Amino acid sequence: MTDLSPLDAAGVDAAVEAALAAFAAASTLDELKEARLAHTGDKAPLTLANRQIGGLEPSDKAAAGKAMGGARAAMGRALAARTAELEAERDARVLVEEAVDVTLPTSRQQPGARHPIETMQERMCDLFVSMGWEVAEGPEMEAEWFNFDALNFDPDHPAREMQDTFFIDPPSSGLLLRTHTSPVQVRAALERRDSLDEGRGIYVVCPGKTFRTDELDATHTPVFHQIEGLAIDKGLTMAHLKGTLDHFARALFGPDAITRLRPAFFPFTEPSAEMDLRCFVCGGDDAACRTCRGTGWIEWGGCGMTHPNVLRAAGIDPEKYTAFAFGMGIERTLMFRHNVTDMRDMVEGDVRFSQQFGMEI
Ligand code: PHE
Repeated sequence: MTDLSPLDAAGVDAAVEAALAAFAAASTLDELKEARLAHTGDKAPLTLANRQIGGLEPSDKAAAGKAMGGARAAMGRALAARTAELEAERDARVLVEEAVDVTLPTSRQQPGARHPIETMQERMCDLFVSMGWEVAEGPEMEAEWFNFDALNFDPDHPAREMQDTFFIDPPSSGLLLRTHTSPVQVRAALERRDSLDEGRGIYVVCPGKTFRTDELDATHTPVFHQIEGLAIDKGLTMAHLKGTLDHFARALFGPDAITRLRPAFFPFTEPSAEMDLRCFVCGGDDAACRTCRGTGWIEWGGCGMTHPNVLRAAGIDPEKYTAFAFGMGIERTLMFRHNVTDMRDMVEGDVRFSQQFGMEI
């Protein structure tokens, strides 16, 4: 086949006709693309003819240029028109094919959510880790010695009965389900005595499950959670304890949280105190408030200066070092912070409860 000459008017017309016919015959955008490449691409007859214009006699150039310009304009218009038609067809088809029937039933599968007790524990630990404390762990099935003896409970101390304990059979096993996270104080101190020799002090928090033989009701559950804190260093005082707990309370309950220490008794701390929060419902202004029973305060946890006997049980010289400790209930914290009024909601495992706290990671 000889090349098309730009001066061959009939040939140019025929090439344009062929292109227009091919564009019209394309029934999809892909086919149109193929037709466009065949008739206007680098190797198309009209493209090759166009390239010859430069080599023509000057007298022929104007006529050839005009013919080619007309040819290209005609093809361009046809291409644009067919593209618009095919795009409109495609859009109409997609609207039908990809339509979503919003009346169909939704997926019944609920997305999960992490339990707020878990995320609250992490939030508390993160706060202490940000101050350079370590997170320590201890077993849930604990030696009676760690749970009671090392914590300065006498063998027949009434406090042993105070905490109604699940003992592990046989009684001679000396094992129980820990009634509080305080046994981790002794474990953590025993494991970290080197820190004291190296002058670093011991600063740990321990969150975890605790067990008492309570019946499940709105304010009690036999399995609950505490977070224990223990700081051992030279020269620690009650003021350090109060400052730490104030910081803890404000981080969780906002900068306006008000706390107070109230004298209390624990065998493993002396002096001991209960840490109270200003009632979050009435703020102390309602003598008939049901949440604080008109006292203006709600109990958050126990604390105190670690008893010298506990330091001795962990092999630490109470003449050289002092320590403070605290233990807060995580369920109670959730109740105050999120107005959860019934503890049973926290243990029943209904995902609708957890989901209200959001998808915390
Ligand atoms: N272990 C105590 C309780 O469960 C709380 C506590 C911890 C008190 C640390 C003082 C120091 O009630």
